[in-house]
Amino acid sequence: MPRLADPRFAADCAILVDGHRIPARAGESVTSALLAAGRPLLGRSAKYHRPRGPFCLASSCASCLVRVDGQPNVRACETPCREGLRVETQNTLGGASHDLLGAIDLLSPHGIDHHHLATWNELVNRLAVGASRRLAGLGQLPREAPPPWEPAREERYDAVVVGAGPAGLGAAEALARGGARLLLCDREARLGGRLRCRLELPGDPPLAWTGEVAAAVRRAGGEVAAGATVLGLWPDAAGRLAAVAERGPSPRLRLVRAPRWVLACGTWAQPPLFEGNDLPGIFAARGLLAALAEDGVVPGERAAVLGEGAEAEATAARLREAGMSAERVEGEVERARGGRRLGALLLAGGRRLRCDTLAVATPRLAADYRTSRAPV
Ligand code: FES
Repeated sequence: MPRLADPRFAADCAILVDGHRIPARAGESVTSALLAAGRPLLGRSAKYHRPRGPFCLASSCASCLVRVDGQPNVRACETPCREGLRVETQNTLGGASHDLLGAIDLLSPHGIDHHHLATWNELVNRLAVGASRRLAGLGQLPREAPPPWEPAREERYDAVVVGAGPAGLGAAEALARGGARLLLCDREARLGGRLRCRLELPGDPPLAWTGEVAAAVRRAGGEVAAGATVLGLWPDAAGRLAAVAERGPSPRLRLVRAPRWVLACGTWAQPPLFEGNDLPGIFAARGLLAALAEDGVVPGERAAVLGEGAEAEATAARLREAGMSAERVEGEVERARGGRRLGALLLAGGRRLRCDTLAVATPRLAADYRTSRAPV
């Protein structure tokens, strides 16, 4: 059951992935369409050509890079689907599923020291270094340069709030109700941060509050920018200036100046620490739950949930409601097994837990944006 059986989640377009038509919903992310199609494999790693799939589903880990309409290294989790969108997997020889260069991983179980390749013989070393240079890098340059962006024009606001999760929304609401004209921006295409997962933890406001805050911001003359990443923030005499890259059909760079800034950047999911933690099928629980709630994506049949506490419990409950089996992981995970997708977890004590999906609900890391000594 790749999607919830609900007419709201019915596919209404198709994207082309390595030439194959994959049904999708217009506007959902490429990762949602691929997970709903049972394809968590998105490409191969740069060095050992290990299978790569999305992890965070929230623009923060870069394990979902694909080529989109000829542009390399585009995050699949922040690319909206539309009819005919051309997606190609990267870093493969023969396709992501049967990448011939995957042999590098099989033949070098202890890794490769590429600084000392075949140093016992100069000629062989040169050949080996030349070959490794040809294999290195991520993606291929596009045949044509993308169209240039419009020159950025400077905009002024009373305040800017970076991050539209619960903290950023709270700040934006207070500023807007106080009459401030503000820019509320978030790098994800949808506002709400963790509220989008519908965890409904005690004290969480309902998701509908997101719309109320956006309306309050607009009423005060401000703007809400989703899919907008703040690239840098520099203090200067006339306030603080930031470069903001906005995605969407007409990507553009904005220069935004404001005397007040609120950085409410939230948290990042951390990959679990065990061998095989990069297998496709291992996801941050929040990303998975957002895809389930917003796009009806059911990522597999057998889930395991890693983590303690209310968030892990709620994750297991949501996945069960969606029709998956979902078992909480008890004890330490020693390694993950699988080929092109997770197949099982090996636990301390020798237990083998079969699963095709691991939802990681362990503590997250605060997104640290302290790049300036000046307080903002
Ligand atoms: S950045 Fe796309 S899955 Fe993490």
